[in-house]
Amino acid sequence: MNVLVLGGGGREHTLCWKIKQSKDCENLYAAPGNAGTSICAKNLSIEVNDFKEIKKAVIKHRIQMVIVGPEDPLVNGIHDFFINDPELSSVGVIGPQKEAATLEGSKAYAKAFMMRHNIPTASYAEFTSETLAEGLAFLEQSNSPYVLKADGLAAGKGVLIIEDLITAKKELREMLLENKFGVASSKVVIEEFLAGIELSCFVLTDGTSHLTLPMAKDYKRIGEGDRGLNTGGMGAISPVPFVTEEFKEKIEKQIIKPTIEGLKKDKLHYKGFIFIGLIKVGSEPKVIEYNVRLGDPETEVVIPRIKNDFLTILQAVNEERLNEVNLEIDSSFAATVVAVSGGYPEAYEKGKIIKGLDQQGKNMIFHAGTKQEGDQIKTSGGRVMAITSFGKDHQNAVKKAYEVLSKINFEGINYRKDIGFDL
Ligand code: AMP
Ligand code: GLY
Repeated sequence: MNVLVLGGGGREHTLCWKIKQSKDCENLYAAPGNAGTSICAKNLSIEVNDFKEIKKAVIKHRIQMVIVGPEDPLVNGIHDFFINDPELSSVGVIGPQKEAATLEGSKAYAKAFMMRHNIPTASYAEFTSETLAEGLAFLEQSNSPYVLKADGLAAGKGVLIIEDLITAKKELREMLLENKFGVASSKVVIEEFLAGIELSCFVLTDGTSHLTLPMAKDYKRIGEGDRGLNTGGMGAISPVPFVTEEFKEKIEKQIIKPTIEGLKKDKLHYKGFIFIGLIKVGSEPKVIEYNVRLGDPETEVVIPRIKNDFLTILQAVNEERLNEVNLEIDSSFAATVVAVSGGYPEAYEKGKIIKGLDQQGKNMIFHAGTKQEGDQIKTSGGRVMAITSFGKDHQNAVKKAYEVLSKINFEGINYRKDIGFDL
């Protein structure tokens, strides 16, 4: 089978690395990919939202399955584009159709879905510029901290958690009246603040049945001790020690099952990954958000723990027989540590030569913002790579990842030295 992975981050390198190991994988392509995907796949210089060029490549390379990494093309309807084109309709697409992708594309839509299907989440209200006065009054009646969310996609920046009422009101005005996050904040969801510990839960569904993948926890802040600005993710671990069997059952019963049932009831066509951002409040799981894709860098610890032939699983999704698959999980502990460009998540420089990538061994070096230029590999993004290691416990896995990182260098390299510190 010829397969195309869309995207160019650490998540996509991990997917390519795993799919390349499949007995059924003939030719593997990544678009646009990075220097890492070019080791296991052929990179195509196509952007993920350029559906016309993707179509040409799919026909030219006789691609039979497309795995969509990031949310953007899904929210823009890439799956529907394939279904509605007679030349593409037989190609399997892993990722939900446009309407279902709105679960990530609109926070208000996702909240309404959760309410309709009794899925535990923070209480909320939604406002637009026309209802600004009500929004301000709502804030006055709410308690600090105030959680303000731009409704639409805002590159992970659209959520504000604010301590004082005056700032919260000012931000609400800026979001609704001054397009603080562009059209994404023409609607704002104001939510109850939930205090607890977060985790990432990935579910794969064919629309009828589902597999729950291993749980993971990511470390979003730039600084040690979970301080400083939010990033795309600085590291991750799997499994998650505080997820006991009992807690897992609660997640399955109270959240995953009603989510899959809800998709069916609402006739939302979903073949792909659901990333449920969860928070453990006391001993109860609640949903913070849905994403319609895998998380990054959680993928870098979740996928390597899956022992099955991954393409076989994805074929089962495509053919709606996921119920036939038995997931086999490696019981070892996995950790990934992300190396970023100096300055990230604020302004940073690109084009720095990366050294020390030629290490052998059992550790995995998943590329994110990297680019091959001649015989050199250079940085081309904020998050540059994720080093994944296995160990007998998290400390041991993290230690191995740091050993690999100690031999990698580029000007300005930065990474958190405390991944897993809180476990
Ligand atoms: P989201 O984009 O919805 O995942 O929000 C980004 C981050 O904001 C989450 O990962 C949480 O850390 C935090 N967050 C979002 N909603 C809430 C909430 N209701 N209570 C507390 N923290 C939240
Ligand atoms: N690591 C969080 C995300 O992928 O959104």
